[in-house]
Amino acid sequence: MEMSVKLGAGTLEDQPPGDGEAASGAFASGLDAWLAKVEAMGELQRITAEVDPDLEAATLTYLVGVQKSPMLLFENIKGHPGHRALYNIIGCNLSRFCLMIGADPVEHPLDAVRILEQKLGRKLAPVEIPAERALSSENVVVGDAIDIRIFPAQRMWPLDGGRYLGTCDAVVTRDPETGRVNVGTYRMMIKGPREVGVYTSPGKDGGLDRDKWWKLGKPMPIAAAYGIDPLLFLVAATSLPKTECEYDYYGGIRGAPIEVFQGDVTGLPLPAHAEIILEGFLYPEETFAEGPFGEFTGYYGRPSGATPYMRVEKLRYRTHPTLTCALMADNASNEAGLFWAALRSAGVWTDLKKMGVPGIQGVWSVPEAAGWGVTVVSVKQMYAGHAAQVMALAAQCTAGAYYGKYVIVVDDDIDPTDVGQVLWAMATRSRPSQSIDILRETWSTYLDPSQNPPEIRPWGSKALINACMEYKYIKTFSKRTKLSRAAYENVVRRWQEYGFTGRAPAISVFEEDPFPERME
Ligand SMILES: Cc1cc2nc3c(=O)[nH]c(=O)nc-3n(C[C@H](O)[C@H](O)[C@H](O)COP(=O)(O)O)c2cc1C
Repeated sequence: MEMSVKLGAGTLEDQPPGDGEAASGAFASGLDAWLAKVEAMGELQRITAEVDPDLEAATLTYLVGVQKSPMLLFENIKGHPGHRALYNIIGCNLSRFCLMIGADPVEHPLDAVRILEQKLGRKLAPVEIPAERALSSENVVVGDAIDIRIFPAQRMWPLDGGRYLGTCDAVVTRDPETGRVNVGTYRMMIKGPREVGVYTSPGKDGGLDRDKWWKLGKPMPIAAAYGIDPLLFLVAATSLPKTECEYDYYGGIRGAPIEVFQGDVTGLPLPAHAEIILEGFLYPEETFAEGPFGEFTGYYGRPSGATPYMRVEKLRYRTHPTLTCALMADNASNEAGLFWAALRSAGVWTDLKKMGVPGIQGVWSVPEAAGWGVTVVSVKQMYAGHAAQVMALAAQCTAGAYYGKYVIVVDDDIDPTDVGQVLWAMATRSRPSQSIDILRETWSTYLDPSQNPPEIRPWGSKALINACMEYKYIKTFSKRTKLSRAAYENVVRRWQEYGFTGRAPAISVFEEDPFPERME
């Protein structure tokens, strides 16, 4: 259904709807439901003060982006009345990560990894609904009437090359040879009212599809969705098998298929609950100067360079849309830190299982290390060479090979998600002269700032650190101090009586050897 065209920020009513109205209306979106749930959890902060999309919203997000930080809904964006921007959607919050993957809340990150691992093993194809029922069909704009600058595109870092409409986005393309549909998250910098950049790093699926279309001498049909629910962002920002469609994984994780409708400009299946959708084409060899962009590494990536852009033919958006935004940053403020960490952890754990490596207790990629840089594997050592086998395979299995720089193997009494425990194991169990192996010329990324000159960047190296007790001497290795279970349980029981509030720290390692029950 082509609805009446409303163009320009000024044509929207001044105030966005309350969430109750939006969530219960005929056009209730995935994002509305998400907002309502996060608000009910007490983790949504509405910011009604006027905020500038130029640096201010992102700066605020960076500052609050420590662990257990709220999701930020900017409801009053300078120059964009009636529009909203959403930041810190998951951040480093396990509670919202569980909500995203449809799991009950868990206390420990490894429980979330286990659930994700199981859910990634399922797939469900999308179902198609009529275009008129799509949320974004509320407002349809075509041709020269389009001005994508009505949306509050963000500049997140001072040296970013421009305003980014697409960060937390889902870009849809099709392989012209096989027909496989791909959904990827690629940054999208605004070029003009109907033009927006699509940067794909070498080897990414959307870029491979583009090259095939261009080789046929044809422009590539392309669509981009914003205002998407976080699960769609998760699958779009994840390297899934190149021959498969991310929509199927969305359905598998959610346990219900995603609803799509067919875009009449491109023929592509488009997410029916996205709030903003652009359709158009990428024309052969048409590029503009795009970037740089503050990356997930906490550094600017590629300097400004020639990048293809989409010519937008059709814009659909719901009235009062919310632009989803993902801040890429160092440390815990990185929107992708926790979810990339969880995905890599689940992938490496699955690969180790598939290769038949026994004794793995847990795998954790540290979110604060850009989600990819440091992976810790906890293993119950069972035979000579077991720890060395685990670290070599974890470093080079399919899910672990790209970029990661450090693989640390620890014993089963160490919680791999507890950085303090991991450092303690390194300090007391590894012997630097014998415990560290180096792999050279490994698969890396242009985004690694440590590799210079930049031309050598796809090549990296990895350090494998064995922080396990030396297996040769495991029977005589100094015994670590462990709490008595009975004494611990007694203290936990009396915690409040001692005058402490909250709960006592959880401990799972106790002395198992016989010891004198009571020393008089
Ligand atoms: C906020 C954000 C921005 C991203 N920007 C880009 C980008 O501009 N280009 C790119 O190739 N990958 C980018 N990525 C990483 C891709 O989303 C990721 O590699 C994904 O696997 C790409 O999908 P594909 O495997 O289907 O190609 C970004 C990820 C996030 C979370």
